[in-house]
Parts: sequence; structure tokens; C-alpha cells
Amino acid sequence: MKKLHIVGNWKMTLNKEDSIALAEKIKTISKKDNLNIEVAPTSLYINDILKILKESDINVISQNFDFESLGSFTGGICLDQLIELGVSKSILGHSERRSKFNESDDQINSKLETVLKSQLDVIFCFDSYDQVPFDLIKNNLNDNSKIKLTLAYEPTWAIGTGKTASIDHIVEIHTKVKNTLTEYSLQNVPILYGGSVNPSNSRDILSSNNVDGVLVGGASTKFDQLLGIVNSI
Ligand code: 13P
Repeated sequence: MKKLHIVGNWKMTLNKEDSIALAEKIKTISKKDNLNIEVAPTSLYINDILKILKESDINVISQNFDFESLGSFTGGICLDQLIELGVSKSILGHSERRSKFNESDDQINSKLETVLKSQLDVIFCFDSYDQVPFDLIKNNLNDNSKIKLTLAYEPTWAIGTGKTASIDHIVEIHTKVKNTLTEYSLQNVPILYGGSVNPSNSRDILSSNNVDGVLVGGASTKFDQLLGIVNSI
């Protein structure tokens, strides 16, 4: 049985009260074999959520980080600070960071290089095959037995629109990426799908070939829907 990942990206959608209330509910979700569940709250409340989910089966990860280390970078959040709080993984390169915060491919790829050299794991988002920097990954991730990278295919048009990509389309892109990863001896890198995942489509998506999990936005901020996705496995 393959290991599956369900990752909830809360984006900037919840205030403090709602984030805490959601975390209090999801701490009751118990781990199933071969299932890894993670949530990414907004950075402002990440410490509160970490404390609530400390003893639970749910891992707390970051939505993003800035390129630099500790220093004079007003408004930034660096890997050292996340590590200090006990965060072990971050999302990187989400299409909203690319389109709404103008992060370029070059900037995101250099952040990828930085995080791959750090002790943190990373979920690197891409919206087309060409956006995956295979050479950079290969050069910075030599040991296929200790993979600290996850890829997440998130077609921009499927994010928050209710228009989920077809299973055929998801499998086609994931297989193309997996084949290239295999050529680079990186076949253990998991590939998640994200874009309008909900309890009605999660079972089909999660059981598809070369799909190792889902990156969920809106549905992950509603306890019943998150639970529905977990129970669809
Ligand atoms: P939705 O699930 O709301 O479409 O968002 C997907 C996403 O962007 C997860 O990172």
C-alpha cells in the first residue's frame, strides 16, 4: 500500500479565532496506516497551532519562507525562525506566491536550493511540467533514500474554482514528472495534486496512478470536509 499525504493549505483565509477552533477539532483525527496529514496555517498563528497539535497525529508546516537568513529583512520569515519553532517543512512556490506576490521562477528556484541544503523538508508547487527544475533538484538531492522533497502539481485554473482537473489529465502530468524523476534516480519523490479537491473527488484522485496525495485549500479549512477527505481513503 502506497503512503499517502493529505496537506491542508489554510492560505490567509482564517482569523486567529477560526484557526484555533479548527486546530482544536482536527487534533482529534487519528492517524491511519500509511497516511500523513499536515496543515499549513498562516505564519502569524503557526506557534499557536503548533502548540495545539503538538500531541496529535497532525504535522504543522509553513506556507512559505523568505530567501535570507536572520538579518535586516523587514517583514520576512526565515528558515532559522521556522526551525526554532519546531516546524520541519514548508510549502514553496505556490501559484499565489508566483502570481499575487510576484515571486519569479528564479527566486523560487533559489529558495528551493536553500531549503534543500537546510534541514527542512519542502513541498514545491508547480503548474506545468516545465516549471519543475529537475537539474537543480538532482544537484541538491543526491540521496534518493533520504528524500526531503515533495512536488505538488497545482494547475492554476483548478485552484479555488471548483474545476478539478480530470483524472486522465492528473495522471498524464504526474506520470510525465515521475518518469523524469526516475531518469534522475529520484523516483521516491512524492507528487501531490492540488486544485478544488473535496470529499467527493478525493477518493478517485488519491487512488490514481502516480498520485501520492493531495494539497487542499478551501476544503481543508472546513473540518467536516477535511475529515471527509481523510475518510475517503
Ligand atoms: P483549493 O483546494 O481551494 O482549490 O486550493 C488549492 C490550493 O491552492 C492548495 O494549495
